[in-house]
Amino acid sequence: MLLLDSIFEFQFPIAMNSRTNAKLFASCPRGLENTLIAELSGLGATNVHAVAGGVGFEGDGGVIYRANLESRIATRVLLRLFTVPYRSEEDVYRASYDFDWPRQFDVGRSIRVYLTAQRCPLKSLDFLTLRIKDAVCDRFRSDVGSRPNVDTRAPEVRIHAFLDATQFMLYLDTSGEPLFKRGARAAQGEAPIKENLAAGILRLTGWQPGTALLDPMCGGGTFLIEAAQITLDIAPGLARSFGFEKLKSFDAGLWQKLRAEAETRRKPVVPLPIHGSELYGDTLKFAHVNLQAAGLEQAVQLKQANALEVSAPAATGVMVTNPPYGERMGEQQELAEFYPKFGDALKQKFAGWNCYILSADMNLPKLIKLQVSRRTPLFNGALECRLFEYKIVAGSMRGPKSTQGGEKGGAA
Ligand SMILES: C[S@@+](CC[C@H](N)C(=O)[O-])C[C@H]1O[C@@H](n2cnc3c(N)ncnc32)[C@H](O)[C@@H]1O
Repeated sequence: MLLLDSIFEFQFPIAMNSRTNAKLFASCPRGLENTLIAELSGLGATNVHAVAGGVGFEGDGGVIYRANLESRIATRVLLRLFTVPYRSEEDVYRASYDFDWPRQFDVGRSIRVYLTAQRCPLKSLDFLTLRIKDAVCDRFRSDVGSRPNVDTRAPEVRIHAFLDATQFMLYLDTSGEPLFKRGARAAQGEAPIKENLAAGILRLTGWQPGTALLDPMCGGGTFLIEAAQITLDIAPGLARSFGFEKLKSFDAGLWQKLRAEAETRRKPVVPLPIHGSELYGDTLKFAHVNLQAAGLEQAVQLKQANALEVSAPAATGVMVTNPPYGERMGEQQELAEFYPKFGDALKQKFAGWNCYILSADMNLPKLIKLQVSRRTPLFNGALECRLFEYKIVAGSMRGPKSTQGGEKGGAA
């Protein structure tokens, strides 16, 4: 039997307006941990440190609300309830039962338990998930005479369990729906990139508002929408609701204040040097619909064009794109023919530009025949990718003249 009295980090409803710091974990696409550290530190988080797939930090209610409202890179923000050693299913059940759930949320809220484990010695993770759910429901039944319903599709309260070989950690999800769901995307192109991965990539490119940006294979326009929102200082969470609103600790006054501050910062929508193009008219319609849903149609310049024929819309700028991945054989052949031509087009038309291509295709550098200046490992879901950086320098065309010219950092 484990001694649990001292392990709970919160037995009271976590006062979101209190100055007491909670222990928090923000998950993110793997490879963006350091980018997320910089972002969360700017939002007031303390004791910020990277772990694989996320960032541990501390903060009070204001930090929790701000991280949800303002973070472009986090996937969700979890509030740690306790960490306890375990050896059996019974230990996990007991620790979960002993936590004072009825003080955190109303019995009328629907719940779901999510479980992730690494090197967990217990046999069935499904059974463990069920036992944690049972413990929460049993505790409610014992304290208030009824239990919350389970909703696997759209739960109001999400409980996340993590188990390693010896420790069991339980978290309350303050985000609810993942934060990459900004609340505005209305239509999807082919293989859309997640909004938080797109925003993290924009950070990695060093692109700054006011500098020209182009995605020549823009699909549903995710890079473009993120860039426009960054330029216009539109907080990514302004158009959605959050898990913390369902908790008893919810401080509506503090939340309204933070939201109102974010609304005030927002700049009016004007045409911006943000450009997108796409080969297929039907897919480009998705980008139009998404930009419209986000209220950003005036801000972004869209056109239907082949990436091989697009001209640079400014003398310098940042090009960022994720081309099709080519998972099927026929597509691989098409891409093997496309990349050398794309490399040539960049050299001919994009001197002065920094170009970034996200791809899982490790053959891309060989095919595109440009000199890679940086490769950053990133995960697009489970897919391991690289963000390839190419700095295209004037006069870096292949050929005897430019080779003799000895361009510094030349792209050819
Ligand atoms: C992986 S998707 C990009 C998804 C996009 N980033 C989004 O978030 O929706 C690749 C896109 O490249 C487009 N595409 C493929 N070949 C192209 C070409 N030669 N010129 C322009 N677009 C192209 C495809 O139609 C597809 O929409």
